[in-house]
Amino acid sequence: MPLLADWLLRHSVVMCLLLHSLVLMTFCFHHAATSCSKRCYCSESEVGGKTVRCSNLRLTEIPQDIPNDTRRLYLDFNLLTTVPTNTFQELSLLRELDLSHNELAQLEPGAFHGLARSLQLLDLSSNKLMSLNPEALAGVRARANLTYNPWHCDCNLQTVMPHLDLEPASLAGIVCQTSEPEDAGAQGTPFLLAKDLDLCVVLKKTTDVAMLVTMFGWFTMVISYLVYYVRHNQEDARRHLEYLKSLPSKQGKSEESSTVSTVV
Ligand SMILES: *[C@@H]1O[C@H](CO)[C@@H](O)[C@H](O)[C@H]1NC(C)=O
Ligand SMILES: *[C@@H]1O[C@H](CO)[C@@H](O)[C@H](O)[C@H]1NC(C)=O
Repeated sequence: MPLLADWLLRHSVVMCLLLHSLVLMTFCFHHAATSCSKRCYCSESEVGGKTVRCSNLRLTEIPQDIPNDTRRLYLDFNLLTTVPTNTFQELSLLRELDLSHNELAQLEPGAFHGLARSLQLLDLSSNKLMSLNPEALAGVRARANLTYNPWHCDCNLQTVMPHLDLEPASLAGIVCQTSEPEDAGAQGTPFLLAKDLDLCVVLKKTTDVAMLVTMFGWFTMVISYLVYYVRHNQEDARRHLEYLKSLPSKQGKSEESSTVSTVV
């Protein structure tokens, strides 16, 4: 027994140190897991809350370990091509989201799900967006920067715009780079400001023409059938007449005249 006590006493310092570092390590790992993303840089301020910077990291995917108390998230100057559904679902305090200077060509439905209430600034500028999916931005009322994207202005975009919840002034950033139809005069103008531009009218006109053509087709078919029917009957009647003529009886003659009157 004294031997054990002696041993313990001698090793207590080492034990204590070991235990200490163990506790420290656990604390550190825990700290890392909850307070900052592995690849990003985090800072915290009294007023603004947590800011997470993942700028310029050649990221092709949005990190999954962004802390859920982040208020500002910078993902600019990366290689992101899409924003998948529910990416930011847990970030219920997020107020600013910078996705500018990426390769974003699409935003999946529900991409900003969970941010509808908190988000105030959404930077999507300098990307590859050509159109907007209203399901991606459902409920998001933030002020958005939509400039420097290759917007394709067509009837679809025109139909979508009134259904967006974004701060209305944001839409001025949609400057048409291409348009459908091409000669509508939309290129180079902010879509919102081209008030008298109606890219759906042309579509309506085309539909009208298609309708006319179809109707004309039907009409022609009906007329052709009528002509055929009349001709066919005439032929029948003629053959019938000839047959009657070949009969020598008086009765045949009277029948003949009655048939002629029917035909006429
Ligand atoms: C963040 O996640 C933790 C653990 O899941 C939870 O207890 C906490 O309430 C969350 N915080 C926010 C702001 O959602
Ligand atoms: C939108 O983003 C562009 C660059 O991506 C920047 O030059 C411009 O100042 C921004 N506009 C607003 C209103 O923040």
